[in-house]
Amino acid sequence: MAEIRVLRIGHRPDRDKRVTTHTALTARALGAKGVLVDSKDPKLEENVRSVVDRFGGDFSIETGVQWRKVLREFDGKIAHLTMYGMRVDEAVPLLQDEDLLVVVGAEKVPAEIYQLATVNVSVGNQPHSEIAALAIFMDRLTAGQALYQERGGRMKVIPNDRGKTVIDSSK
Ligand SMILES: C[S@@+](CC[C@H](N)C(=O)[O-])C[C@H]1O[C@@H](n2cnc3c(N)ncnc32)[C@H](O)[C@@H]1O
Repeated sequence: MAEIRVLRIGHRPDRDKRVTTHTALTARALGAKGVLVDSKDPKLEENVRSVVDRFGGDFSIETGVQWRKVLREFDGKIAHLTMYGMRVDEAVPLLQDEDLLVVVGAEKVPAEIYQLATVNVSVGNQPHSEIAALAIFMDRLTAGQALYQERGGRMKVIPNDRGKTVIDSSK
């Protein structure tokens, strides 16, 4: 099965801590295999790995990557999420057959990204957030299949219409 990874561009460790953490956790929850971040951020790596350790699954994080090199060397398709791109529903059928790298920005992304992408994809043409754009895009791409996938983690949440039911298999 084709694998999905996310490349986060423009991460500023001092300002984007929460947003990039949530981008990574959203990528994981919605079925990506890993996230690559352009600035080195050991604390971000630690936080994301801690979630993976507890809740399971096969998800990697690498920070301090050179985005240009990653994009040039990626063996698969590249979807850059931008409010200026083609409609998500038209893009998804073009992106099903190969490994996929999904690029999201923080502030304005370098113009070169638009050229290096296989497709520039919009999730609506209004400005909003990389986390929202990633979640909707991934959900459309996977037809919702990742949401309740078993991850084999130590911590397991049992869906409950009231209250919290969590099984910790280490206890
Ligand atoms: C806060 S926005 C940056 C907007 C910035 N002013 C620009 O012109 O690129 C951060 C990221 O969210 C994503 N994003 C925001 N709105 C989007 C939309 N409507 N469709 C797809 N991606 C979007 C893009 O990946 C963007 O780089």
